[in-house]
Amino acid sequence: MLATVGGLLVVPLAALAANVPRELASSFAGAPTSFQFPPADVTPVTFPDPNFPDAAQVGFPGPTPTGDEAFALATAPAVAQTECFDPIVRPDTSDRRGSTFNVVRNWGNLSPWFSLPAGTFGLPKASPLVPNGCDLTQVHILHRHGARYPTSGSAPAAFAAKIQSLANSTGFDATGPLEFLATWEYKLGAEILTPLGRQQLYDLGVNARVRYGVLLKGFTDIPVWRTTSEGVLQFAAGFFGVQQFTTSYHQLIEIESPGFNTTLAPYEICKNNNVPTIGGLGNTKAAEWAAVYTVPTIKRLSKHITNVNLTSTDIVAMQMLCAYESVALGYSAFCDLFTESEWESFEYFIDLGFWYSNGPGGSTVAAQGVGYVQELISRLTQTRITDFNTAVNSTIVSSNVTFPLVQPIFVDASHDTVISSIAVALNLTSLAKGGPLPTDRIAKDRQWVVSHVAPFGTNLVAQVLSCPAKSAGVANLTTGSTSGTPTHVRWILNDAVVPLTGVQGCTEDQDGLCNIDTYIAGTQARIDEIDFQFDCLGNYTIPEPDDITDGRAPR
Ligand SMILES: *[C@@H]1O[C@H](CO)[C@@H](O)[C@H](O)[C@H]1NC(C)=O
Ligand SMILES: *[C@@H]1O[C@H](CO)[C@@H](O)[C@H](O)[C@H]1NC(C)=O
Ligand SMILES: *[C@@H]1O[C@H](CO)[C@@H](O)[C@H](O)[C@H]1NC(C)=O
Ligand SMILES: *[C@@H]1O[C@H](CO)[C@@H](O)[C@H](O)[C@H]1NC(C)=O
Ligand SMILES: *[C@@H]1O[C@H](CO)[C@@H](O)[C@H](O)[C@H]1NC(C)=O
Ligand SMILES: *[C@@H]1O[C@H](CO)[C@@H](O)[C@H](O)[C@H]1NC(C)=O
Ligand SMILES: *[C@@H]1O[C@H](CO)[C@@H](O)[C@H](O)[C@H]1NC(C)=O
Ligand SMILES: *[C@@H]1O[C@H](CO)[C@@H](O)[C@H](O)[C@H]1NC(C)=O
Repeated sequence: MLATVGGLLVVPLAALAANVPRELASSFAGAPTSFQFPPADVTPVTFPDPNFPDAAQVGFPGPTPTGDEAFALATAPAVAQTECFDPIVRPDTSDRRGSTFNVVRNWGNLSPWFSLPAGTFGLPKASPLVPNGCDLTQVHILHRHGARYPTSGSAPAAFAAKIQSLANSTGFDATGPLEFLATWEYKLGAEILTPLGRQQLYDLGVNARVRYGVLLKGFTDIPVWRTTSEGVLQFAAGFFGVQQFTTSYHQLIEIESPGFNTTLAPYEICKNNNVPTIGGLGNTKAAEWAAVYTVPTIKRLSKHITNVNLTSTDIVAMQMLCAYESVALGYSAFCDLFTESEWESFEYFIDLGFWYSNGPGGSTVAAQGVGYVQELISRLTQTRITDFNTAVNSTIVSSNVTFPLVQPIFVDASHDTVISSIAVALNLTSLAKGGPLPTDRIAKDRQWVVSHVAPFGTNLVAQVLSCPAKSAGVANLTTGSTSGTPTHVRWILNDAVVPLTGVQGCTEDQDGLCNIDTYIAGTQARIDEIDFQFDCLGNYTIPEPDDITDGRAPR
């Protein structure tokens, strides 16, 4: 019996139940479920792990000087208060913009990780959520380590040495905003992660477990995850928990040292990366910009110090010190010295360095990134790499022990410059919009912002999806997952989906999806157009102005 109320047809609940049973509680409602990893029939890792030597056995640890202990409760003027555990006191600008401007998001590759808004790369309707009509079958997580000390011999240490040597010789008188320099000490170590850096990777591991943990159910063996250093450890600790992580995955450490083939540190074999006019071009371009933007800063700050001639290099070093001290010690007195516009200029300084050395404007960049892209296609097609003429290490990728082709979750830990090179090798061309970048002014319409591409903890994630309704031809591949045949791929950079329209054959899609077969063919064409031997090892010069935008040497 149907009734009407206010002219609307009212369907009794019982009638609805008959037609649309799915809207009622299913017999599963409230049922307890659980899952255990590693599954009972899989042997956990025991030590020593024969095919996976630990860091001490692999050797080549690189520099690891520790810094001084932090004591933010005495050195910072306030306690950091944020929604999550975050040890950094957020600095304000010297022109006091307060909440309207976030200094820490203008530190380029030294910015702590933050989630990018959906529209960052041009897809405002997309999100990391699995799109309607799709199931997730696999993820490839490529991430950077968390916050670390400066690399050995970089600008901050050189600035400290200059100040110390002047203090020992002529002495100097610092007043006003620079007064702190009279008693300032250099407490930073080199290279290794800071406490915040360890937290960031642990958090990333927790985040990945909550987002993608269900894919663990597709593993029939212990995962093999790769790193160049011990970077993946904290990620795994967050992902598996501190009691279980060492026995829950095999850690493959790739050697990061000159002359070794390592797709996660390809500069070690790309000779032209060390040529100042090629791989070092970013330094030159960034220095040109520093000479422009620091002029008023030098003038302003020089009034507060005697016997010290501040240079553009010093100003940049002081801005870097703000970032490094903040992420290591919780607070930095250097931060308060700079205006909003000087922070935007600093971000642009880093953007230029990356654009011309590790981004779309560098001639060895696609070549450096292409090794990982070959490995990705090897995994997506379940076909072993047979031609070795890039940074791929044939020993590692030829074995299904060290390089399994089927895993529901792949994890690779690497560096800022490498992840940005891989983005270029993947032809994520939306990142190159607004380039080439000028060195006499800020290109306001650029997409290339390093705090978006390669902050501490940056992560570039490929989701492999099964979207039956959207697909014509589908790949016949195993992903390890039980959620269907893969039909689509998309890339997500720090939570913002990246368009794939730069990949031959991929069309515009509001969710950033590309048909998997099309994606594989287009990316294979990209691999084929990149000439590692010439770009990395050839003898050439880059014409001035450098108008490269696809990361390859001019032919
Ligand atoms: C400055 O003087 C201190 C104490 O005498 C000494 O340890 C340090 O090596 C000197 N540094 C420089 C750069 O001259
Ligand atoms: C390839 O990797 C293996 C395992 O780490 C290593 O022993 C070998 O030296 C590497 N080869 C090259 C050419 O880098
Ligand atoms: C600073 O520059 C002035 C002028 O070029 C020079 O006379 C002076 O020696 C310099 N001072 C230092 C400490 O380098
Ligand atoms: C290392 O890379 C070089 C240059 O691409 C290549 O010729 C060589 O075969 C590779 N070696 C290994 C062990 O992968
Ligand atoms: C590795 O590949 C070989 C040859 O294809 C096969 O016999 C072996 O079972 C594989 N091992 C694993 C762990 O998958
Ligand atoms: C995938 O390929 C294999 C071997 O060619 C075939 O047996 C299987 O039916 C195919 N699966 C699908 C879903 O097409
Ligand atoms: C990669 O992008 C460039 C534009 O930067 C384009 O010219 C090229 O055709 C693309 N390559 C492939 C294989 O899609
Ligand atoms: C590179 O080419 C230039 C010009 O042809 C030549 O002078 C130079 O010796 C070459 N360098 C190397 C390392 O082969």
